[in-house]
Amino acid sequence: MAQYDDACTLLDEDHNEVMRLFEQYKAAHDASRQKLLARQISQELLVHMQVEEEIFYPAFGRATGDDKLLQEGEREHREARELIAKLDAEPANAKLMLELEDAILHHVNDEREKMFPKARKTQGLDLMGLARQLEARKSELMAGQPA
Ligand SMILES: [Fe+2]
Ligand SMILES: [Fe+2]
Repeated sequence: MAQYDDACTLLDEDHNEVMRLFEQYKAAHDASRQKLLARQISQELLVHMQVEEEIFYPAFGRATGDDKLLQEGEREHREARELIAKLDAEPANAKLMLELEDAILHHVNDEREKMFPKARKTQGLDLMGLARQLEARKSELMAGQPA
């Protein structure tokens, strides 16, 4: 059963979840806990970006024709993936994690303040249908990941 009736609300709940994980990482005092949290943060973000790119961004692009916002979003995703790859090699590098947090914070604000308000105003964007697709794809991807 669908938990969300609006794709933007679903995506923003992912944003809040990853922000909570960043806080936990900063409060973590040992490398093994940092390592665990770094893996969780990476998984959350990679799945989130993938479903945005597969489902939400193309639908947003078709309905609004706003290529500029889309390209900005995709560029920020690329930056985030580069930082995630570096963290994969050094999960206890707190400075690197702060860089990722800053980048994600900036990106989340762009989606929250520019993309989502525009999506909600745009006729013909089925945010309820998209929420269902995002949710289904997320569960599929999460199921394929190691715990
Ligand atoms: Fe997002
Ligand atoms: Fe995004």
